[in-house]
Amino acid sequence: MRAFMKPKLISVSAAGGRYTIAIAPGVMSQAQRLLAALPPATATFVITSPRVWRHVGKSVSRALGVKKFRRVLFLKDGESSKTIAGFESLCRGLSRAGADRRARIVAVGGGVVGDVAGYVAASYLRGIALVHIPTTLVAQVDSAIGGKTGVNLPEGKNLVGAFYPPQLVIADPLLLRTLPPREFRGGLAEVIKYGVIADKALFLFLEQNLEKILKRDPAALGHVITRCAEIKARVVSRDERESGLREILNFGHTFGHALESLTAYKRYQHGEAVAWGMMAAALLGHESGITSPHVAARIISLVRRLGHLPAWPRLSPAALLRAMGRDKKTRGGKLRFVLAPAIGKARSYDGIALPLVERVLHYAPHLTHSSARLHD
Ligand SMILES: NC(=O)c1ccc[n+]([C@@H]2O[C@H](COP(=O)([O-])OP(=O)(O)OC[C@H]3O[C@@H](n4cnc5c(N)ncnc54)[C@H](O)[C@@H]3O)[C@@H](O)[C@H]2O)c1
Ligand SMILES: [Zn+2]
Repeated sequence: MRAFMKPKLISVSAAGGRYTIAIAPGVMSQAQRLLAALPPATATFVITSPRVWRHVGKSVSRALGVKKFRRVLFLKDGESSKTIAGFESLCRGLSRAGADRRARIVAVGGGVVGDVAGYVAASYLRGIALVHIPTTLVAQVDSAIGGKTGVNLPEGKNLVGAFYPPQLVIADPLLLRTLPPREFRGGLAEVIKYGVIADKALFLFLEQNLEKILKRDPAALGHVITRCAEIKARVVSRDERESGLREILNFGHTFGHALESLTAYKRYQHGEAVAWGMMAAALLGHESGITSPHVAARIISLVRRLGHLPAWPRLSPAALLRAMGRDKKTRGGKLRFVLAPAIGKARSYDGIALPLVERVLHYAPHLTHSSARLHD
């Protein structure tokens, strides 16, 4: 029997009010109590995907109280269903099921389910209540926190959406037991990112406990998820609309997005591209004199311990530079990079000399080779 563990409660402030993230291994067993503390709803609708529901449906519906939560709407698995069509079919499902203004959506799944269900909650009848039960590591440490919801267009990712905070997030690391290894390791890349940008102690904990975490030890995992959620909560509470501070969350993402888009989102799981991106950002920090060789080496070696990454694509630095220029997070045509002057610190830099970026793009493909070494 698992000992009762008091959940860690993290408060997030959003323009529309505050909400709580409850985290602990086994916290799902307290879901009904946590939901009962929210404003009452006429009916609750679970939005999930077939795969997620196959893995966690039984335990989640038991925890939620099956009888009251009979209504389950499905969104097909995968990024390809994060579309206006997916959004529309869920809205129509709600309407056919008679959902009214005081209905509540409980999104059970990864970032895809959370983003689409969140956008449905933001839009259906101009907004109904939303609760997130994230079931991937990415969703627990990132996408379920901060209120960004939306769908993709053929023209690009996340082009349509809304800021719409949930009423509650319940993050149970035990739900991650069935997550495919590649998804789990991809999520860990984002976890490392939080250590680099905001938390020296978390980074050290990861250096000392990565093997345990890779085995999904509930206590170690609970600890790192809590720390990451605290960091994301702090950042988005201070900068909900991404005017400045929130930008540090993009560490590794300028390179990462370029790798993903140039390989048509097929070669890498997002976190894998971010893993490459963080190593490249460490190297760029080093080349720019912002990141010491020691710090760059620590970042690169921790990322490498995540295990195999699909290789860097055979593309010219020029092609990658062009792709980085297209990233929507560039400002006024200038490349901006989030770099780390120390472990636990990051900020955004303008005006990094282009030849340095080119040099990094030249060397980055070799960073996973065992002979790769960093010298100044
Ligand atoms: N809103 C935000 O702030 C934000 C932040 C980061 C990412 N995102 C978005 O999140 C999406 C990526 O999310 P993701 O990485 O969670 O991927 P995902 O939602 O596609 O889930 C990955 C895979 O794991 C499966 N899965 C989920 N939970 C499982 C479980 N417990 N056991 C077994 N299988 C499970 C899913 O069915 C899917 O096949 C992207 O669309 C991205 O744009 C949004
Ligand atoms: Zn990311």
